[in-house]
Amino acid sequence: MATTSVSSPLRIGIAGLGRLGQRHAEALAFRTRHCNLVAACSPVASERAFAGEQLGIGRLYDDFDAFIADPEIDAVVLVTPTSLHANQTIAALEAGKHVFVEKPLALNVADCERVLAVAERHPAQVAMVGFVRRFDPSYMAAQASVAAGEIGQPFLVRSQTCDQNDPEGFFVRFAPTSGGIFMDCSVHDIDLARWMLGRPKALRAFATGTTALHPALAEFGDVDNGLAIVEFEGGARAVLYASRTMAHGHETSTEVIGTAGKLTVGEHAARDRVVRSDSHGVRHAVVKDFYERFETAFATEMAAFVAACRGEQPLSLTLADALEATRIGLAITRSLHSGQAEPV
Ligand code: NAI
Repeated sequence: MATTSVSSPLRIGIAGLGRLGQRHAEALAFRTRHCNLVAACSPVASERAFAGEQLGIGRLYDDFDAFIADPEIDAVVLVTPTSLHANQTIAALEAGKHVFVEKPLALNVADCERVLAVAERHPAQVAMVGFVRRFDPSYMAAQASVAAGEIGQPFLVRSQTCDQNDPEGFFVRFAPTSGGIFMDCSVHDIDLARWMLGRPKALRAFATGTTALHPALAEFGDVDNGLAIVEFEGGARAVLYASRTMAHGHETSTEVIGTAGKLTVGEHAARDRVVRSDSHGVRHAVVKDFYERFETAFATEMAAFVAACRGEQPLSLTLADALEATRIGLAITRSLHSGQAEPV
């Protein structure tokens, strides 16, 4: 089992060095305190070369089993395709490592339950799923405000994850392993809704969608714009929108509506606090992608993982939350395909 003392830096290995994995790796190597990024694993030679040459990592693996057997690693950060998350998390826990795994935990409930069962048998190890918005300063402030009763009883969350259109269609190539637009994008909004609403039980979901720009998604049963409604026990509701085709930039925004007020986070996707007023009108620059929007949150998330592994700070985000997000995301995805409301 991982033996991490508060005095020694956590020795981390990262698996997956793609679009997000490289960003996590750079943050762990250069900007995260109390840890050392000592190992990396990728089946792709150029990604291992990046880890060796750009990050100075000496322990490079092309094989995941050999990677998690490395006794010099205390904790692993998994930024691999979603379809691999459950089995890799289980293998890493069984190898005695703390685990951070990117969202979503898995693409079916049985896989989530398998992870939960293994994690229960390894209570001294941290197992954390990357719901990064829980570490974003604005979302944290909003949630604290809701929890303090400042908007009365929250009953409606209206939340969207909208990416700028990528004409090269990275997400089309990503579609076979992502679980579709709701499991990939809306899973963040689902987790947010549960967090803001106090974790109510989800009852039923309805979804529809349309394909505005990327017909190749049809082969995977996916759409590039998706809409969903989730009904919770007690009357609370969530209304979700996910898009791959925004013209202006990345716009993640959320409204939490309560009996005594409303909170709005991330409106208009402003990159900074500069507003230009001239003969063209009044405007501001826009965030271009999820990483630009959430870079601070990703850093805080990794710091929280390291602190949890070092026994300094417990996590409020649980694997049970990740399971519920998958359960709701799956009901939404079933509804997209059936055209009917689906039980969660
Ligand atoms: P990607 O396809 O760019 O990267 C996947 C990486 O995994 C590649 O480096 C690939 O070589 C590597 N890989 C594949 N099989 C492997 C194996 N058996 N062992 C080790 N490495 C392996 O995908 P991307 O966009 O980086 O996404 C990765 C994960 O991160 C996904 O689960 C995705 O849902 C999640 N993600 C989370 C975001 C967030 O906001 N929290 C944003 C973007 C992605």
